[in-house]
Amino acid sequence: MRKRTVLTVVAVVTALIGGAFDLAFTASSARAVRPDPVAGKAEAALCSGCHGADGLSAATEIPNLAGQHYQYLMQQLMAYKDGTRKNGIMNEIIRPMSLEQLQNIAAYFSSVPLTVGKGKTP
Ligand code: HEC
Repeated sequence: MRKRTVLTVVAVVTALIGGAFDLAFTASSARAVRPDPVAGKAEAALCSGCHGADGLSAATEIPNLAGQHYQYLMQQLMAYKDGTRKNGIMNEIIRPMSLEQLQNIAAYFSSVPLTVGKGKTP
């Protein structure tokens, strides 16, 4: 009786550890494969105060990001991160962010459908 209980506990613990490993592995390999625009939308909350909730900024001196090419966004974000593109605000915001966060955010903004003619002419 006792032995069986111990065996059951061992089996359950082994299954739980195995499941946790599978989950962790799946999550990390999924991340490495493809940027996640859904996660990026949540992370982009930090940007919305200036660039607008959907990347269409209300202020004419702040660029729109909606519908911008993923590759262009990544080039600019990496340039702000390593300081080759200099802007006090953007350097501070982007420097602490991880590559994965930036890829997710770039995937989000590039996925926003672009509506032609939203730019403001003075
Ligand atoms: C406090 C306001 C502010 C916040 C918050 C902010 N930005 Fe910016 N962003 C700016 C300004 C101003 C510029 C133009 C800077 C320049 O001339 O280089 C800019 C430029 C950019 C550019 C370059 C666009 C282009 O057309 O080259 C990208 C990309 C960008 N921001 C992404 C982000 C992301 C991603 C976040 C959030 C993690 C963010 N920004 C948060 C103000 C802000």
